[in-house]
Amino acid sequence: MEEKATLEVQNLNIYFKTVGGRLQAVRNLSFQVESGELLGIVGESGCGKSVSSLAIMGLLEFPGIAEADSIKLMGEEISHKSKEEMRKLRGSQMAMIFQEPMTSLNPLFTIGDQISDTIKLHQNCSKQEAKERAIAMLKKVGIPRAEAVYHDYPNALSGGMRQRVMIAIALANSPKLLIADEPTTALDVTIQAQILELMRDLIKDSNTSIMFITHDLGVVAEMADRVLVMYAGSLVEQADVMTLFHNCVHPYTQGLLNSTIKVHQTSGELNCIEGVVPSLKDMPSGCAFHPRCPYAQEDCKQIRPELREIGKGHYAACLHPLEGRNK
Ligand SMILES: Nc1ncnc2c1ncn2[C@@H]1O[C@H](COP(=O)(O)OP(=O)(O)OP(=O)(O)O)[C@@H](O)[C@H]1O
Ligand SMILES: [Mg+2]
Repeated sequence: MEEKATLEVQNLNIYFKTVGGRLQAVRNLSFQVESGELLGIVGESGCGKSVSSLAIMGLLEFPGIAEADSIKLMGEEISHKSKEEMRKLRGSQMAMIFQEPMTSLNPLFTIGDQISDTIKLHQNCSKQEAKERAIAMLKKVGIPRAEAVYHDYPNALSGGMRQRVMIAIALANSPKLLIADEPTTALDVTIQAQILELMRDLIKDSNTSIMFITHDLGVVAEMADRVLVMYAGSLVEQADVMTLFHNCVHPYTQGLLNSTIKVHQTSGELNCIEGVVPSLKDMPSGCAFHPRCPYAQEDCKQIRPELREIGKGHYAACLHPLEGRNK
């Protein structure tokens, strides 16, 4: 029997109500996260990575509105669940970690209280058991002197340690899906590497699938099994990590890769793709990338490209896909 996907999103659209009218931030987004998979999501600032994650977790707030044909977690439809039902799912079946751990840790409660509360909320166990599990979890994420840290307040810890605590909280109830939204961006490079390694080890042991959002293609190359590339609210390319790095066909993906390679080679200024991401108020006609695309043709201005299968498991939304050149 085929294993169920951990997450299956069909046709997610996200809008924001503004005084100027309804703006669309995410358009027809469909994808899956397979069991035990680490799915990387990349794309420039504002392309809709965070709002999509929040919508999946049931955390998108007004004026944001999410509509989806279907969002299934372990085969179960969750797009119509109530706030209360979603709250129960979060922290047990699904969890999320954010870029800045200080905003998600409560400064007024000890680390220990915050982890044990999550454990008690979702697992039927005594206070003492919750404490033992919490300390075990702190050890598992590599926090030294876990028993002492249990009684510390968040501001007593460094950024890297706080992010470890967030990971401990997120994984305390062995969720099926973990969404990590730029979990290491605020940390310095060596700490980043440690946290990434930790996350990789943790999913090897458990059967947690991860949606990993990042700006950093180097991190994607190292961590991800498969990658989604988003541009201006749409999925533009999707492939396994090898295919993406060696055979991408979307000019936007190619631009991202080229700028990353140049940064790493010269450690100089970021060689960005020319132009800027369009504002939601002012989306170009046709392919949203056409004004910045070096290969754009006349039809790209008129026709919005659909996501098409280019090769096995490799999809791209481009009227004139490149032939796997990535230079
Ligand atoms: N409260 C809001 N009101 C109006 N527009 C919003 C609101 N929140 C987000 N948006 C818009 O939705 C779009 C997607 O935002 P999102 O935060 O998901 O981007 P992102 O891909 O996560 O970017 P980054 O890499 O900077 O984190 C952006 O254009 C943003 O301006
Ligand atoms: Mg974001």
